[in-house]
Amino acid sequence: MTEQPSISLNDGRSMPQIGLGTYQIPDEDTAGVVQAAIDAGYRAVDTAAIYGNEAGTGAGVRARDETIFVTSKLWRDDFGYDAALKGFEKSFDRLGLDWVDLYLLHWPFVEETRFVETWKALVRLREEGRVKSIGVSNFTMDHLERIIHDTGVVPAVNQIELHPSFQQVELRAYHDENHIVTTSWSPLGQGAALADPAITAIAAKHGKTPAQVVLRWHIEAGLTVIPKTTNPARLAENFAIFDFALDADDERAIAALDRRDGRIGPDPTTFAG
Ligand code: A2P
Repeated sequence: MTEQPSISLNDGRSMPQIGLGTYQIPDEDTAGVVQAAIDAGYRAVDTAAIYGNEAGTGAGVRARDETIFVTSKLWRDDFGYDAALKGFEKSFDRLGLDWVDLYLLHWPFVEETRFVETWKALVRLREEGRVKSIGVSNFTMDHLERIIHDTGVVPAVNQIELHPSFQQVELRAYHDENHIVTTSWSPLGQGAALADPAITAIAAKHGKTPAQVVLRWHIEAGLTVIPKTTNPARLAENFAIFDFALDADDERAIAALDRRDGRIGPDPTTFAG
């Protein structure tokens, strides 16, 4: 099997640097895609309560005899301390696994005042052991400061929109200072990054595809990455990124693609869920 890198988390554990993203994969298709991903070498999969495919994700993982790092996320309906504990039970039952490797608050949700107490519920779940690591998603520096200040518990991960057009340089620097691992969602810019002439030129130079160049860029930047595809050939393509390296010219060309207005998903400071 291809050697693949892992990243150390601030709680002493580690996570595979590449995983399968499952956003928008229908539950009935998910088990098959997860199995295909595991067969292609993936050892991590990312789901969420709101994706509606935790059952398929768990079924796919259980169908293979491999240790798979599973991430899921708590949605707004289950915010609040007691509600979060109950929300986790539902996810845990749907997944049908012995534990969840990483459990995230999915968004800070604007006007949601309870994310600190909800975070405390995740701390408790980790203490109980059915969740091994805890983190957040779509948190800004302000949100991170608030939970760290109020609880003293630093999230292991912040999963954020991140791709060549939206590189999140400041937030990543904050993560690095605070030993928070960054996971890039929509690492391919939902496919948009793949047509960029700078990316296609680098791909041609290395004899790789644009997707492989972009994913390699995330890996070399020390990010964890969860590209989504349901296509078996692309699953393999997206995983075949450990046999080449970008050079300094490539790095400069990709750095130049960053744009202030490059966000394609919701803005965490206004998104209400
Ligand atoms: P599909 O599922 O049909 O393969 P992101 O992870 O940035 O959100 O991007 C996901 C989008 O990119 C999906 O539309 C997916 O389509 C497409 N995609 C994933 N991998 C590749 C690839 N290797 N080449 C082209 N498109 C891809």
